[in-house]
Amino acid sequence: MKTYRIATIPGDGIGKEVIPAGRQVLEALAKADPAFAFEFEDFDWGGDYYRKHGVMMPERGLDSLREKDAILFGSAGDPDIPDHITLWGLRLKICQGFDQYANVRPTRILPGIDAPLKRCKPADLDWIIVRENSEGEYSGVGGRVHQGHPIEAATDVSIMTRAGVERIMRFAFRLAQSRPRKLLTVITKSNAQRHAMVMWDQIALEISKEFPDVQWDKELVDAATARMVNRPATLDTIVATNLHADILSDLAAALAGSLGIAPTGNIDPERRYPSMFEPIHGSAFDIMGKGLANPVGTFWSVVMLLEHLGEREAAKRVMQAIETITADTSLHTGDLGGTATTAQVTAAVCAQLAKATVAASRAA
Ligand code: IPM
Ligand code: MG
Repeated sequence: MKTYRIATIPGDGIGKEVIPAGRQVLEALAKADPAFAFEFEDFDWGGDYYRKHGVMMPERGLDSLREKDAILFGSAGDPDIPDHITLWGLRLKICQGFDQYANVRPTRILPGIDAPLKRCKPADLDWIIVRENSEGEYSGVGGRVHQGHPIEAATDVSIMTRAGVERIMRFAFRLAQSRPRKLLTVITKSNAQRHAMVMWDQIALEISKEFPDVQWDKELVDAATARMVNRPATLDTIVATNLHADILSDLAAALAGSLGIAPTGNIDPERRYPSMFEPIHGSAFDIMGKGLANPVGTFWSVVMLLEHLGEREAAKRVMQAIETITADTSLHTGDLGGTATTAQVTAAVCAQLAKATVAASRAA
């Protein structure tokens, strides 16, 4: 039996509700399947930790995560702490510390979800956005001078490296190649940004030569937003810089029906470090503590975590359980226009998983 070591970091807000729900799903899966088990360790890092200790996580925190097989993360964000502190002190510290350079964001319209685009059939929207996750606009390079004086100035410098662009392009082409349509769109803004984005385009062309069976095109980021709305079926795998993909992935999630459903993986493709999986919705303080959060974004992140561990069959089972649940509108949470609670949705998914395993063992 394989035992996977999973770190859970609920973080702030509804992260404290959805991460225990995700853990329940993994536990239900392990209970019904003798092939593997999970060993969880929970970390109380985030806003409350900051109020006590003045930091979002301990200085040597990464060392406690290093030997884990994967990390399940909730969200970081606190109304009383500036956003750049919560972000840089926890999530980015882990992403950058573990060089999780590929951020992967799949989007589909799941069964039963009422998506906002009238002319878009569910089959038309099946995207996977690859976000460069280690540099670019989120490099953290810059500064402020003359603070508080009329001549105050500030910079945020976007750093792009050849090595950084090559590795994310290679990852994106490989991912596109693994999908049935073998179709990649490279997002750019090389008309206005005439240095780094021109290098980005050039490297995309170079790497494309390694993948002759992948069909690819280029789209300016502004035009890409219109294409996502007007011609969703022309897109499949999409690769973009850190900030461009941040924006496009929120649009993608909204077009698929709700931010509450969307998952993400912060991946170290070389597996030198653990990868980290999280729902993209954030801490949502307006609904925290009420049991109303949609746990589906976390469950889908659990699917990505299982895929990363190589547990494809189990991942498929969880995805099927999720889709059975979203198809039933009485199990929709508030973000989807329903009244179901986090606990109800979680119990329904766990029950589905127990059923699926019974069916599988009968068939065997
Ligand atoms: C995301 C989020 C974060 C980001 C925020 C919370 C800083 O929007 O994961 O997409 O911009 O990376
Ligand atoms: Mg975002």
